[in-house]
Amino acid sequence: MDMKLRSNLRSIDGKCLIKTTEEINDALLNKIVKNTHKISYVKLGKTVVFNDIKRAFKDKRYKAMLSPEKVNKKILKIIKHISMPDTIFAELRSIKKRMPYTYRHILMIAILSTKIALDKRSKKKYKPRIVLRLGLVHDIGKSRIPLKILDKHSKLTRMEHKRLRTHPTIGYILLHHYYGREHSKYDYASYEHHERLDGSGYPRNLKHINRYAQLLAVVDVLDALLSSRPYRKTPYTLRSAFDYLLGEAKRKRLNNEVVHLLISYARKSSAKLKYIKVSRKKRGKIPPGIHGKIAHH
Ligand SMILES: [Fe+2]
Ligand SMILES: [Fe+2]
Repeated sequence: MDMKLRSNLRSIDGKCLIKTTEEINDALLNKIVKNTHKISYVKLGKTVVFNDIKRAFKDKRYKAMLSPEKVNKKILKIIKHISMPDTIFAELRSIKKRMPYTYRHILMIAILSTKIALDKRSKKKYKPRIVLRLGLVHDIGKSRIPLKILDKHSKLTRMEHKRLRTHPTIGYILLHHYYGREHSKYDYASYEHHERLDGSGYPRNLKHINRYAQLLAVVDVLDALLSSRPYRKTPYTLRSAFDYLLGEAKRKRLNNEVVHLLISYARKSSAKLKYIKVSRKKRGKIPPGIHGKIAHH
């Protein structure tokens, strides 16, 4: 991995996982895994996250995409019964308090990716319970990025940008601690969600990306576009966001099938996926922003 961190990385349960002086490598990650002895799992339905997810379904921006009610109920039923380590819920509670935008974003990623996993039209056959857990942990590393970077109104400096881009790696390390020996089932959600199929993503410029991470990447970009951010006050309209995603799929950066599935949720008729197009004429304008089109990344 060959990198060092800008500040010591502590887990939410108070362990110092990595010091700034330490080189992050496999030996160090193995040590972190070995030091995780007992994990106590908690049912999501018994935490505040469950009620927050219920509320997130009412998000107006997703009104067209989160129906019918029957599917929502199915998603909620799955959500209610999954278990995750209590440390992850502690991270989510802290994110909720310190970074409400990121918290809402995380919940929406979990909802939308579970909806895709339940979609019988998908050829990839994702497991809904796995997707849901991955959605909830994908941005866990953001919690260690200073708020003055995340909420900055002006263009990020080169160093700040570099720091922001450490969040997939930080999340990857945290998940080694929280999941112990089970880490490889979930850690790539954080590590690979900013990778792009043409190798232009980060942190590793991968071209072969875990298919679950590919799913998360699409949903992640959609939510970033539909949100108003300090550096881009006006969010994309649904139409211009879909247009952007189609462009990314065409350039072989994002998973084409997932893009089409998402777009289909905003359509009344359940058209065959390959026929879905966004009208060139009625396309929305791209709102102004300062650091690139989707500066979330
Ligand atoms: Fe991210
Ligand atoms: Fe994200």
